[in-house]
This record gives sequence, structure tokens and C-alpha cells, in this order.
Amino acid sequence: MLQGKKILIGVSGSIAAYKSILLTRLLIKAGAEVKIILTPSAKDFVTPLSLSTISKNPVLTDLSDENSWANHVMLGRWADVMIIAPLSCNTLAKMANGLCDNLLLAVYLSATCPVAVAPAMDEDMWKHPSTKANLQKIETFGNKIIPVEKGELASGLFGDGRMAEPETIIQFIETIFFLKKDLEGKKALVTAGPTYEAIDPVRFIGNHSSGKMGFAIAEELALRGAEVHLVAGPNSLQVDNPHIKAISVESAEEMYNACNDVFKDVDIAIMSAAVADYTPVEKSNEKIKKGKDVFTIELVKTKDILKTLGTQKKKSQVLVGFALEKSNEKQYALEKLKAKNADMIVLNSLNDAGAGFGYNTNKITIFEKNGNELHYDTKPKQQVAKDIVDRIVNMLYA
Ligand code: CTP
Repeated sequence: MLQGKKILIGVSGSIAAYKSILLTRLLIKAGAEVKIILTPSAKDFVTPLSLSTISKNPVLTDLSDENSWANHVMLGRWADVMIIAPLSCNTLAKMANGLCDNLLLAVYLSATCPVAVAPAMDEDMWKHPSTKANLQKIETFGNKIIPVEKGELASGLFGDGRMAEPETIIQFIETIFFLKKDLEGKKALVTAGPTYEAIDPVRFIGNHSSGKMGFAIAEELALRGAEVHLVAGPNSLQVDNPHIKAISVESAEEMYNACNDVFKDVDIAIMSAAVADYTPVEKSNEKIKKGKDVFTIELVKTKDILKTLGTQKKKSQVLVGFALEKSNEKQYALEKLKAKNADMIVLNSLNDAGAGFGYNTNKITIFEKNGNELHYDTKPKQQVAKDIVDRIVNMLYA
């Protein structure tokens, strides 16, 4: 996505300036062309030599020396994006007030490209009303703010104010500035989370699914332009993307009905929910009192949503199922692909560390109906969602 993109990095004086070396390296690895400007005080934290070596471009710090004048206007025009990382309190205040006493600020003021900033400061500075006011002000100028992270700070204290990690900065830039809207005009259905099968008004049969994978998929689809129906079982997650319509359900039956209502209108359906396979035959209206030593609950199979949608599927629709397995993973995944008439099965193995319920990461293998088998490393669920959606887009436009 960043191949051939021209990125201008502005580094201001903060201990987090050391991260600009990794940021540069990752951008170069992703195929971007990188130019770097340091403020005079940034030179106390990171050397022009290390940054020019990694970026393969001279690093600029001064508006002029006795032999030359840095063309700040052309630098701002050269770039596809300017990233100011780290953004110190001082540079933030100057940006908010249009000050121009160094090259970085002169380029910022004359930049015609979009600008993103990654603030870095100690928690008390971060919380100061003037910092908040300055950030709000530069946001109204159109600058994008990359959220700070919580963690250990240069002071030794723990709190908000750490600059976002270079990987996060790159993900932010890709999402905000370079993401292809390859699903514009498409509609999608995603299921997420567990289902709760009521035994009585206070008890249920459920599972440990957090819903994180399904929510990440819904977010990725929406970012790429799709209108998403997210049918989710009980969870603690929030949706704030206007292109995601969240439909809350509790039981497998409710999830089945919600999916059936919209399936005929969607181009893509991804069944990532951990739907209960069985539900109590009888649901008591009263709280069941303690009595017999042995208590038996009779269960009946729920409707298989994925399988039902598989029977209704039109040629133009892409249907994706999940499989969570502990043994014979490949065999079971391939059986599900066929039995449920899906186009793709995303396999999670319970044998992989950092994969499955509750984790922020996942490790998947994708089996496609054309025989493709794609293995992926353990990654944050947002990136796993991107990998899955990439394959869906590939299939949709094949
Ligand atoms: N699924 C569904 N409706 C159900 C049960 C499962 O839509 N009632 C979907 C899941 O969302 C997932 C896929 O089917 O996409 C696989 O679910 P899984 O429970 O692993 O498969 P089962 O066919 O139920 O088989 P088993 O539990 O025996 O592995």
C-alpha cells in the first residue's frame, strides 16, 4: 500500500525521537520514499547521520546555511503525507499558533499534503488544558492526530502520553490516507460473539467468545467502503463506525432470524460468531429452584446459520465460515467448507498460542473452495481481519 509513496517525517525534540529510526526503516521496507526534517532540539535525541543512512536521503534541519536555502515549499509539495513524530509540546503549541522559527514548521505551514501527528509527552503535560486546546485547534486545521498510548514514560511514571509505536503509526497512515475503498457500494453481513441459550431468566449456556474477531472484520469491511450489518451476541465491545449497523441478539435462534432477514441483500457474509450448537428444549419462565441432587437439561440442536445461508447462496455472493479445531484441523476445515457450501473457511487451531477466544491476536489458515490453502502468522486481530477481507475482495472480483 505504501509502495512508491513519498513520506516526509518531521521529528521534534522528545525522547521518543529514537522511534523515528524504526518508523523510517519500516516505511522504507514497505517501499516508501522517505525524507526527514529534524527540529534543532530533535538533534539532541537522534542524529541526522543515523536517519540519513536509513532513509537514504539527506536529513534537513535548517532553513538555510551559508551555501543553500532549503526549499520548504517544494518539500511540502513533494510529499504525499507529512508525519510529525514525535510531536513535542513545544512544536504542538507553535503549530497551533502558526509560528515559524525552524524548517519543520516552515514546511508544515506550506505543506499542501495531509499531515498526521504522533504526540509524545509525559502524562502531566499531556493532560494540561493548553495541550488539549492546542490539539483540538490543530485538528480543526485538518491535521490527523495519532492517539497516544498508555505505558512507561520517560519520567519513569506510568500513564498516557507515550508516542504510538511505529507499526501503529504506519497502520494509521495506511488506513486514513491510502486505504483503497475497494468495497464501495457493497453490503456485508458479519456475525460475532457468543450466543446465550437461556435455561431460566437468570441462567444460560454460553461460551468464552469475546466478539473481537468479528468486530475487527466489520470495521475492516466498513473502512473499505462496505455497508455492514453486524449481528452480535452478548459482548462488551463498541461500534462507532457509521457504516456499521449493529444488531444485538442473544440466542442462536435470534441470530439465525437476524441473518436470514438481511442475507438476500448482501454481497458478503462472514460467520465468525461462536454459535451454540445446542439449546435447552425447555426454557423455564421462573428461576429454577435448587432441588434434586442430579439435574438434567435436555438440549436440542440449534439451526446452523452458515449451512442455511449456504443453501440460499447466489453465485455472486461470497460466504465465509470459521472453524475452531483442536485436532485434524485441516480435514475438519475442508469438511465444513463442503458441508456448509461456503466459499472460504477461516481455521483457528486451539493448538496455536495467541489464537482463538479472548486474545487480541489470532493465527489463521484460510481454505478456499478453489483449493487454495493460505497460512498466516500470529497477528493482531485488526491485521487478521485485513488478510481475510483481502481474500474476499480477491474472490469477489475474480
Ligand atoms: N455456525 C452457525 N450456526 C450454528 C453453528 C455454527 O452459523 N448453529 C457457524 C459458525 O459461525 C462458524 C461455522 O459455523 O462459521 C463453524 O462452526 P462450528 O461450531 O465449528 O462447526 P459445527 O458445524 O458446529 O461443528 P463442530 O462444532 O462439531 O466442530
